[in-house]
Amino acid sequence: MELGDAIFTRTSVRYYQEREVEEEKIKELIEAAIRAPTASGLENWLFVIFKSSEAKKKVYELIAKGMIEYYQEFGLSMEKIEKLKKRIYGEKMYRAPLYIGVFMNKNVRFLKGEKFDLLEFVWSVESAAMAIQNLMLKAVELGLGTCYMGVANFEGIEEEIRSVAGLGEEWYLVGLITAGYPLREEKPRKRRKDFEEVVTFV
Ligand SMILES: Cc1cc2nc3c(=O)[nH]c(=O)nc-3n(C[C@H](O)[C@H](O)[C@H](O)COP(=O)(O)O)c2cc1C
Repeated sequence: MELGDAIFTRTSVRYYQEREVEEEKIKELIEAAIRAPTASGLENWLFVIFKSSEAKKKVYELIAKGMIEYYQEFGLSMEKIEKLKKRIYGEKMYRAPLYIGVFMNKNVRFLKGEKFDLLEFVWSVESAAMAIQNLMLKAVELGLGTCYMGVANFEGIEEEIRSVAGLGEEWYLVGLITAGYPLREEKPRKRRKDFEEVVTFV
């Protein structure tokens, strides 16, 4: 597959077949992810594949809890939260066969010292995000679909998801990605902004 085809046909997939993803394909996804640029060459990322129903259920329930707490703080009624829940992360998190948690190790540093804490954190998050994009494009080539689940980062639950993954507190969850065979063919979503609106030459 041409890179351009992968870029222009990728779209967030929210409905999946029950079919398992072959181990070889999981390997190919991660091999693509770790070819991404990585700030200071640190490669301080870790990909946790939540595959068992038990682990996925735990993550799913944590997200449900995180969402309720988050939106209640903004004064949203339970009725509205239920509606949002459906829209944002859907039934059983789109029934995906895999959730891929992309973590980065905050203790692996290039610049040491408090002064660089934020910079180092941002660099690591950016590196992990690039790895995620590689993974998502590779998924298109392999006939798989993905969706970024920002809801896994609600305050308070990120740590708990980390502990489902069996990781210590040096690990930070950058993103949780659902992956699997799409239930139906999805058309790429349109963009509201075009070239002229998002580019400026100086
Ligand atoms: C950082 C980030 C967080 C996201 N979080 C969610 C989410 O929690 N639930 C969801 O269904 N989609 C989520 N998405 C997917 C976006 O909604 C989606 O990319 C956007 O609507 C554009 O659609 P497309 O990916 O099909 O082009 C997230 C995307 C990004 C980049």
